Amino acid sequence: MDEIHVIGGNCLKGSITVQGSKNTVLPIMAASLLQREICVLRGCPRILDVCYMEEILHILGVVTWWKGHDLYLDCSKVCGREIASEYTGRMRCSVILLGALLGRNQRGVIGYPGGCVIGKRPIDLHLYALKSLGAIISEKNGKIQADCKKLKGQEINFPDRSVGATEQALLAAVLAEGETVLRNCAREPEITWLCRFLQKMGARIFHEKEGCIRVQGVTSLYGTEMLIPADRIVTGTYLCAAAASRGSVTVENAPEGEMEAFLEVYRKMGGQYEWKSGKLIANGAGIQFSVPFLETEAYPGFPTDLQSPLLAVLTTVPGISRIRENIFENRFKICSELTKMGAHIEVRGSEVKICGSRLKGCRLRAEELRGGAALVIAALAADGESVIEGVPFIRRGYEDICRDLRYLQAEIYMEDILSV
Ligand code: UD1
Repeated sequence: MDEIHVIGGNCLKGSITVQGSKNTVLPIMAASLLQREICVLRGCPRILDVCYMEEILHILGVVTWWKGHDLYLDCSKVCGREIASEYTGRMRCSVILLGALLGRNQRGVIGYPGGCVIGKRPIDLHLYALKSLGAIISEKNGKIQADCKKLKGQEINFPDRSVGATEQALLAAVLAEGETVLRNCAREPEITWLCRFLQKMGARIFHEKEGCIRVQGVTSLYGTEMLIPADRIVTGTYLCAAAASRGSVTVENAPEGEMEAFLEVYRKMGGQYEWKSGKLIANGAGIQFSVPFLETEAYPGFPTDLQSPLLAVLTTVPGISRIRENIFENRFKICSELTKMGAHIEVRGSEVKICGSRLKGCRLRAEELRGGAALVIAALAADGESVIEGVPFIRRGYEDICRDLRYLQAEIYMEDILSV
């Protein structure tokens, strides 16, 4: 069992190349099921969620192999249609395999999706999209079964915006008969990357106006390759880590144009940044202003996935800050851990009030991915040593957070407590 040890107080400084995007690569891995050749995903992050998705693809008959950070997916012999809940329960994103299986095999049976314990996270919008395209859905014995003779293009007007449900609808629509028009789609960059990948496989997808995507069904798709873009959430996490220590960081391959809402808050806090030849150069030495009010929103608003990392920074900034979480209701679970470090935080429903103070190192437990990264950030700013348990949650989305932060001169290491 691993623990992360952090000796707080170092001012972070240095440059870093961030891993490929988790939320981009997972739906793309699912999308590869729609073709019967080989896809190559270059710059794929070697994180636990990618391993979990790879294991699911193996069950369905996909043969995979790695060359460095390039993941090869041979989908020529896919015959499986069913995925047990012990696999789907590991991550929420497994639900979009239903759309891919319907597109490929006209049938998919999956256990309920799992994922981080950050809220209710229903799947009604996913099922609405699939039913609209003609799938018959039944739910029994803890499984969701979807069948169709042939999916048929349709107008789908999402009542609410959902990243996963938009991806689900895209995966199901590309091989459906006729035209599908998706309205009120999510606008996150990951949707655009998925569309690009599907287009490279031969799908006919057109971005109409903002939030509206038109898909003309085709009869087959082919293998392709794509470079997975840098992870905007990991980039933001490392900017927060440097900010918490009032240090600086250069991100060599930051995803330009995808981080505006975060960078606006960074600047308001007193941070400075500039883009130079594709690099993001950020200096947090001047961070000193609290954030009177911030709320998480769908893209292009402030991302819910960076709310916990930012909250960790704000516990160190003098004055009162307030955050409202609008997307996932249980994101404030880390507040009790931060309080152990001496943070002054009051949680009221979906809002949190933070009064900046000094933090002291202690033993902490991560219970979900971004909250876990936030604990690491707080530990970097704290006096003394912190030990963070629950490392597998962090590994779901960070390839090697200790290695990356050591590049920035943090004193941080992983210890396997069973082997000492
Ligand atoms: C994706 C990201 C996650 C990010 C989130 C919001 C992946 C693998 N995960 O999650 O990191 O935090 O987008 O940017 O890409 N909802 C429903 N019914 C549904 C689906 C969603 O009510 O059928 C609700 C959710 O509970 C949530 C909101 O819609 O309150 C947004 O969720 P959604 O955009 O679907 O997030 P995910 O795709 O699960």
